[in-house]
Amino acid sequence: MRRTGTVVEAVQALRRAGGRGEPLVVASPGRVNVLGEHTDYNQGLCLPAAADLHVVVAAVPLERPDLLVHEGDEQMHLALGTPLDSIPEVAPSWSSLVMAVADELGRLGRPQTGMVAGVAADLPVGAGMSSSAAFGIGMAMALSRTARWDVSPEDLVGVSQKAEKAAFGVPCGLLDQMTVVHGQEGCALLLDCRTGEFRPVHLPEEAGLVVADSGIRRRLKESEYGTRVEECREASRRLGLPSLRDVTLADLDRVQGELDSVLFRRVRHVVKENARVLSAIESDAVSLGGLISESHRSLSRDYEVSLPALDDLVGRIECLDGVLGARVMGAGFGGSILVLCVQTDAVAVRDEVAGLAGHGAWVTEPGAGVRVLEADMS
Ligand code: GLA
Repeated sequence: MRRTGTVVEAVQALRRAGGRGEPLVVASPGRVNVLGEHTDYNQGLCLPAAADLHVVVAAVPLERPDLLVHEGDEQMHLALGTPLDSIPEVAPSWSSLVMAVADELGRLGRPQTGMVAGVAADLPVGAGMSSSAAFGIGMAMALSRTARWDVSPEDLVGVSQKAEKAAFGVPCGLLDQMTVVHGQEGCALLLDCRTGEFRPVHLPEEAGLVVADSGIRRRLKESEYGTRVEECREASRRLGLPSLRDVTLADLDRVQGELDSVLFRRVRHVVKENARVLSAIESDAVSLGGLISESHRSLSRDYEVSLPALDDLVGRIECLDGVLGARVMGAGFGGSILVLCVQTDAVAVRDEVAGLAGHGAWVTEPGAGVRVLEADMS
């Protein structure tokens, strides 16, 4: 953990919620994505890593079947099984995700044990670092362990993806959940979203990762994320293929004649992004930086998930000493910028980038996936 202060804050929130006794403490990381953006729901390839920034959940079981969760000034007190559309409007916005996670776990056989939890985070919320998957998976792990019920890593991934859809209507792929659950210290993951297989990949030693919060907030539901998912489906339908994973670089010329220009540009981004992921695992730091910047241009021009302000920020970051490449990260339309830099310059780059972006920047080392920090439920 980067800051033990976050654990202390989570335990304090638990105490405010009325939780007594030795807590179970779960650390659930955010994710960075080195390359492979908007490829996951096209059964493509991604190269993410768990971040060393977390959502921390401190929890104890509760005899009655209620969920009491406190985070900062926000409080949720609801009975297990409360339908999502009956959650009062005054409840915190994350309440529906907590309830949806509990529902999904209940469907898998989790006993209807209640829980009191306190939540704190050093992971920026809504900044394109998967705070929502980190929160949902941290909650799922806490709900399972406090009920003395085992949940498999595969179920953690599935529960959180379904809950996100039920709570927010976001038809997201598996990138965030797989990374939050399976992240490995010191490594990125080469993730194949067609088979669900992944393997650890070492990034070049001379490369450092910095993430900058652009301060531009988007809500996935209101963004064009769903439109992009639909456009990709439509393109594969027209091409008579199960998914865009089946289109190769060599097919692009032919495919151009079969699709209108918007759909063709969406396809070109996905196909080239998959190819960039494969090149990345063979690359040195400088070429990896080039691939990351190329990915930004593709996300901006072909996939159209950037904004003028983000393009401008990326352009200014790319000019800084020690920077090898930069791009918008995650769904787009706001959120974070990923910066690849010379490892020994990482702290200086972070400071300069924080000045340009104005909303915080972090040097990030690939960290471990969701885990229990202290467990004493006896
Ligand atoms: C969001 C979604 C992911 C993925 C990225 C874009 O983070 O939750 O599933 O599609 O956008 O790569």
